[in-house]
Amino acid sequence: MSIDSYLRKTVLRVADLSWVRSLFTKYGMKYGVHRFVAGETLDAALAQVRRLNEQGLSVTLDLLGESVYEQKAAEQSVSVIIQTLEAIDKHGLDSHVSVKLTQLGLCKDTEMCLDHMRKVCHAAEKTGNFIRIDMEDSSVTQATIDLFCSLLEEFGTNRIGLVIQSYLYRSLPDVNELGKLGANLRIVKGAYNESDKVAFPLKKNVDLQYISLVKMHLTNGCYTAIATHDENMINPLKAFAAQNKIPKERFEFQMLYGVSTLLQLKLAQEGYRVRVYTPFGVDWYPYFTRRIAERPANLLFVLKSLLKR
Ligand code: FDA
Repeated sequence: MSIDSYLRKTVLRVADLSWVRSLFTKYGMKYGVHRFVAGETLDAALAQVRRLNEQGLSVTLDLLGESVYEQKAAEQSVSVIIQTLEAIDKHGLDSHVSVKLTQLGLCKDTEMCLDHMRKVCHAAEKTGNFIRIDMEDSSVTQATIDLFCSLLEEFGTNRIGLVIQSYLYRSLPDVNELGKLGANLRIVKGAYNESDKVAFPLKKNVDLQYISLVKMHLTNGCYTAIATHDENMINPLKAFAAQNKIPKERFEFQMLYGVSTLLQLKLAQEGYRVRVYTPFGVDWYPYFTRRIAERPANLLFVLKSLLKR
């Protein structure tokens, strides 16, 4: 195992300890979480969308929350997601919406989750918006793809898209099959703690597969969201698109709120579409720990904010 993946797994394991969780959820929003999270309320998030739009950046808003088992809580999330779509429309903002299926009850009941997603997609239809289904850990990969395919048939590729992770061995055939359906895909490296039975343990292989997946999906003629902050991915993919005369309207770069902000602006100034994944809500802890795990140096940033108090 490489040092990178060892550190990542350690951070994710420590973050799971209940005392670490309660410490961070108590003080985190005051001490540094705001770097990665736009706020705890929809209004706070909308203010950030407006700011990003003014800088020439598009957004995808994400109501934080995952692993929801109670129907009431899942319904509550559906209602906030629909309010989010309505608010984007009302204020004329440039923002899509990203969702996690376990927030809408996937782990409890697939049919209930599908029903919730239909409500979300109808609201997106009504407001002329687009919903991206995030990809979670490998225990729900197949269920997520299956549910996405049902929605794709019902709502079409302009309304619904999916995420695929390059660290999973299975992703090459998945992208090939989804390409045949014309799916709009966001390609990411993958952020969960996975075993080497399902995912490449070495970053080198994750990176190699990342490039292959994006090239394959672009070559298949499908819209591709290249979601990475890694210039070793971005630069060769820019060159690939130019050499193959793939117009800038057929793909976009996506990055996370608070990460590589100068690179986001640079790409936008070069005429590329850039979308910032902007999370909001009170349930920010799992999202925050994945951001720390990707770059443990981020912990220093949080500790520094703590010391400044
Ligand atoms: P890599 O990890 O190699 O980092 C490259 C460079 O980027 C680093 O050297 C550093 O400079 C910078 N960087 C990366 N992460 C950083 C961080 N947290 N803080 C500060 N700097 C950082 N994953 C998933 O499993 N399912 C999903 O649905 C999504 N969705 C998603 C949407 C969008 C828009 C993005 C950008 C990412 C995701 N991810 C995701 C997360 C993704 O899987 C991955 O963990 C992160 O993007 C980090 O990987 P990079 O591709 O940036 O490369």
